[in-house]
Amino acid sequence: MGRLIAVSNRTAADPGARAGGLSVAVWESLKSTGGIWFGWTGDIVENPPSDVNVFRDDGVEFVLTDLSPNEYDKYYLQYANSVLWPVLHYRIDLASFDPDAFPAYAAVNERIAGIVADRVEPGDSVWVHDYHFLLLGDSLRSAGWNGPIGFFLHIPFPPPEVFRALSEHQQIARAMCAYSVIGFQSQQDQANFTRYLVDDCGGVDESDGVVNVFSTRVKIAAYPIGIDATGFEEAAKTEKAREAADRIGRFLGGRSLVIGVDRMDYSKGLPERFEAVGRLFSEHPEVRGRVSVTQVAPPSRSKVEEYRELRQMLDGLAGQINGDYGDLDWIPLRYLARSYEREELAGLFRIARVGLVTPLRDGMNLVSKEFVMAQDESDPGVLVLSEFAGAAEQLKAALLVNPHDTGMMADTIHEALTMPLEERQQRWRELRDIVQSQDVAWWRERFLKDLETLHEGSG
Ligand code: G6P
Repeated sequence: MGRLIAVSNRTAADPGARAGGLSVAVWESLKSTGGIWFGWTGDIVENPPSDVNVFRDDGVEFVLTDLSPNEYDKYYLQYANSVLWPVLHYRIDLASFDPDAFPAYAAVNERIAGIVADRVEPGDSVWVHDYHFLLLGDSLRSAGWNGPIGFFLHIPFPPPEVFRALSEHQQIARAMCAYSVIGFQSQQDQANFTRYLVDDCGGVDESDGVVNVFSTRVKIAAYPIGIDATGFEEAAKTEKAREAADRIGRFLGGRSLVIGVDRMDYSKGLPERFEAVGRLFSEHPEVRGRVSVTQVAPPSRSKVEEYRELRQMLDGLAGQINGDYGDLDWIPLRYLARSYEREELAGLFRIARVGLVTPLRDGMNLVSKEFVMAQDESDPGVLVLSEFAGAAEQLKAALLVNPHDTGMMADTIHEALTMPLEERQQRWRELRDIVQSQDVAWWRERFLKDLETLHEGSG
């Protein structure tokens, strides 16, 4: 294979995005093959220069562009994060539809496609990532690129009944079919998109995930994203990890740690989780004073109204739980609205008795996989995982919960806290085997192999 060309809104060059699953996975992919990464600088500039910002880091070439204030507002804040993000997470109720947003979104897709088209060469493979760039493959074709283009959606894809809430659903689906391979996180996402193409667009589902639609053939499959499993396992044993574990250990004073780490986003189910923690202390009074829950939740997209409201709600809920149950020497729920480094989080996961990953809806959720790899085999913690995270299709040995059912979640956290060592070890080994064998390299290789095969087949 020739060079790998990745395109995503955020890149690993932007410190604001380093912790996200997307930037880590794409970074691993590009470092191992060498290649170019196109995306946004993270800056908003009154009159973005027509020149792009080009530099190299660790063998990877970055080609980045600034966004104008109008692009940032209409493309990023509005269409990507106030329309596509809620709708694709099944939350039509939280979407705010703005008629000017889609044209701006399409224009940014076209502008970035033009930047890519100027630099691709025969033999390259283009891999576009996430909901910011659903139309970019089509624009790249219009700009004359005939080589392979694949697309991977990092977030969920909802059933057709929900997707149809977008006024532009037909236009988006048609443009998406300019990609040769469309990858989803889970089989459920794949099935939802395929059903949409069949029911709404007259597509014919041929064998092996290939759909014949819009006079073309597209491969649609699930490629669950993985982590750098060995790297994370090592991260949990570093000095930095130990220091973080010691610091929280001083606060815990021998109590069991229950931990959650999520971007502060309404898809993560944090209010429901906090409520479940409250019920844990009210319905299982024997754990009072013996367990401390710590939720790390770095604020995100705070210019979007729904995110500001979430922040206020969490502040209130945490205060109420601590007011109701806390004591002179015990804070039941600590909530830290800031980010920590990868090694520090790995250290906290390692000493935690329970990991809470309970989103209302999530494409994959890599925290669940990181929690598994950070554990100590001799005394592993228990993963409590939402059945609505893509990871639940792989991590069946976790304790699966319905995040809307706070009573069930409280009981499951209690079950995790009291689980015998032998069962903890057995479940953990099963989880570890999957996270290790289906890692980020497995994800990348499966996707790129299909992209290569499909393109050869169509040539
Ligand atoms: C999710 C998305 C990514 C996005 C990240 C951070 O993981 O799938 O595409 O980069 O959130 O969100 P932000 O809006 O800060 O880029």
